Amino acid sequence: MATDSLKVLTDKSEVFLKKFENGIGKFSANALNKHVALYSHLLQEANSIANEFSQYLDNWPSFQNTEAAEESFKKELVTSKIGQWFSLYGKIASHELYFSSLGRNGNCEGKIKELLEINFDSVVRFKLDFKIKALYSTGWVWLIMDHYTGKLFNLSSNREDAFPFSGMSPLLAIDLAEHAYESDFGSDKEAYIEEFFNDLDWKEIEKNLPIM
Ligand SMILES: [Fe+2]
Repeated sequence: MATDSLKVLTDKSEVFLKKFENGIGKFSANALNKHVALYSHLLQEANSIANEFSQYLDNWPSFQNTEAAEESFKKELVTSKIGQWFSLYGKIASHELYFSSLGRNGNCEGKIKELLEINFDSVVRFKLDFKIKALYSTGWVWLIMDHYTGKLFNLSSNREDAFPFSGMSPLLAIDLAEHAYESDFGSDKEAYIEEFFNDLDWKEIEKNLPIM
């Protein structure tokens, strides 16, 4: 079946689960597996809406010929489905970026290090800026490159379904919902953020730089 405008997304759970099978640093395999399962559930939900939307498109001519009250009800349903899908997409994209940001020893070198030094003065200062925003956020913090200025900065949101779509390339993400850290770090959010820095895969993160 064609899925047209709401695309069916590819589930990357298997790649993440393989990477996380022995845990990552102080992140336990159990907590990471549960987090990946949550991501996979979001993805299935989004794909089910995409398939449903495809059926609306297939049936559009008959859809419009129904009674006025029914038509209005159906249109409302379609509008709400589009909104739900977009909200799920934000969560999915941020989780994929988060899972792919993790996996090495936090060693920052090469081109990405140079860019952090140009934009934040030093890697230490980048981390401080990122950490403060993360401590005060309940959604996400992303390191992004702004396409208009070519500059890097840290952007935060309290919304779990947010993702920087417009004019920006997100390079890395940290999940600040409690489910991301409570089982391994309890309420110690700062320890979680520090461990996140220790386990970053900067070689992978560098691949997210846009060609400008
Ligand atoms: Fe999450």
